[in-house]
Amino acid sequence: MKSFASDNYSGIHPEIFDAIQRANTQHQISYGADQFTEEANRLFEKEFGEVEVLYVFNGTGANVTCLKCCTLPFQAVVCSEYAHILADECGAPTQSIGCSLLPLQTPDGKLTSEMIKPLLNRLGNVHNTQPKVISISQTTELGTVYSLEELRNLCNFAHLNNMYVHLDGARISNAVASLGVTMKEATVDCGVDIMSFGGTKNGLMIGEAVLIFNDELKQNAPYFHKQTAQLFSKNRFIAAQFTALLTNDLWLRMANHSNKMAHLLAAKVGQLSGVKVNRSVDANAVFAIIPVHVIEPLRSQYPFYEWDAETHEQRWMCSFDTTEEEVENFVRALEKLL
Ligand SMILES: Cc1ncc(COP(=O)(O)O)c(C=O)c1O
Repeated sequence: MKSFASDNYSGIHPEIFDAIQRANTQHQISYGADQFTEEANRLFEKEFGEVEVLYVFNGTGANVTCLKCCTLPFQAVVCSEYAHILADECGAPTQSIGCSLLPLQTPDGKLTSEMIKPLLNRLGNVHNTQPKVISISQTTELGTVYSLEELRNLCNFAHLNNMYVHLDGARISNAVASLGVTMKEATVDCGVDIMSFGGTKNGLMIGEAVLIFNDELKQNAPYFHKQTAQLFSKNRFIAAQFTALLTNDLWLRMANHSNKMAHLLAAKVGQLSGVKVNRSVDANAVFAIIPVHVIEPLRSQYPFYEWDAETHEQRWMCSFDTTEEEVENFVRALEKLL
């Protein structure tokens, strides 16, 4: 099957697969005290500077662990109405932390300080949950990317108001590739306190990482990591994948490729009459509205998700292994149906 459904439909990049195999030798100390974890930690430090790294199984686990480090049960996380933590994690953050989520309308998936300001009225009022974290997704769920200036403004606003910034970076590699800056410039240098660093959507078999930059949040993190059931005894197999991802800029090579495929796809479908690419293509997602009668026949050839059943907006995601030929074939199939 070839699909444009999600970047987690793809398999494992061969360099990642080799790394898992290389880690499969002899016995190693469990729970992350092994040489492979040490190696991956060093590479994360090379990329981001001083950072505490916790390896986790999946993106939901990364987000829950991050938010657990930042909130008490009476505190709240401000997020976009589209945020994965709100829309797609079955209530995991609220269920396992006790915090509440305060969603805001975001036409392009991005939060701004202006949107958040009215929530400051809650601060100090014992009847209201207390906003403590601003959680943003970079790349956003709508395929858009915050600029460095937008990130800096949000982080400054958060810190001025005694809040933390959590970045859901399930697709951080695509965002950083799109911005053309370093990982560090796009995250910790803007003031991000803690982040979920994505792996699975960029060529890994399994695993994400929680990266903690703010010293205040580091102290209890290892205990929260264990309590949220995200501490893997054979951690070397997650860590070894990150070593491969961070070696010779594999993360960037893959992200540049999937972004390039999305731009190609958007340019090609944009030329077809009846197709409207309706959102900015900043990274590896293309959103488009197409006539109802072509949706099912097209989807039966190339699976993809309908983003909005009312407007018939579709989401097409490109992966590290999407080829130009697949894009051409998809566009031809769509054209034929139109
Ligand atoms: C923005 C975002 N965050 C986090 C995740 C992680 O999800 P999972 O728990 O399925 O790995 C996803 C996956 O779709 C996502 O799109």
